[in-house]
Amino acid sequence: MMTQEELKRVAAHRAVEMVTSGMTLGLGTGSTAAHALDRLGDLLRSGELMAVAGVPTSLKTEAHAGRVGIPMLALGGATRIDLSIDGADEVDTELNLVKGRGGSLLREKMIEGSGGKFVVIVDESKLVPRLGCTGAVPVEVVPFGCDRTLGLVRKVFDGLPGFSARLRKVVVGKEEVPFVTDNGNYIVEMFFEDGIRGDLGEISDRLLRITGVVEHGMFIGMATSVVVAKKDGTVAVLH
Ligand code: A5P
Repeated sequence: MMTQEELKRVAAHRAVEMVTSGMTLGLGTGSTAAHALDRLGDLLRSGELMAVAGVPTSLKTEAHAGRVGIPMLALGGATRIDLSIDGADEVDTELNLVKGRGGSLLREKMIEGSGGKFVVIVDESKLVPRLGCTGAVPVEVVPFGCDRTLGLVRKVFDGLPGFSARLRKVVVGKEEVPFVTDNGNYIVEMFFEDGIRGDLGEISDRLLRITGVVEHGMFIGMATSVVVAKKDGTVAVLH
């Protein structure tokens, strides 16, 4: 039986097979995407891939890509993005995603939604019947007035049994402080007892209409395919 880490690597390597020389790539963030970065670095070093450039979706990915020798471009410097490869926290039956539990959702959405293919890499534990089943759905908010914004996010789900929302905190020294994203923003985490029921598009619109909300971690209709590494060692590509 393969470990979860091995499954992440299998999914990442399968996605990297879709990369050809000359492509501009969206470089994802997280423990699964990290395997794709390592593989890309190896293929560039061996000369099997050439003239590939990546647009990193986080500062962490930028540092990792630099270490493994992937040439990089800023989003504004890329004329196109041919293919983005990234992990996800959850994938539903329609290939909608929850992303951002690692804290990087805004740059991911900007890059992965900017055209080209978006290939998601997961082990099968990420497949869920409904988004929000297994943990937080993150929402990036500006720090100014974040308590008010949190209240407005709660109002979107007013009266929904089992719903809760809170500001994501981290412990620094002995103090709990808000988690700060690469963009200097905070994260509101939304929790659902049994996942999000209802029209995701409508829920997305209501969240994005709140002044103070920058973006949320539901990636609706964005994935072009999902590479799933299964416990038995096989790989499925979902479209
Ligand atoms: C980064 O904040 C996220 O969007 C990640 O892509 C997602 O959390 C998946 O990460 P893992 O591959 O580490 O599970």
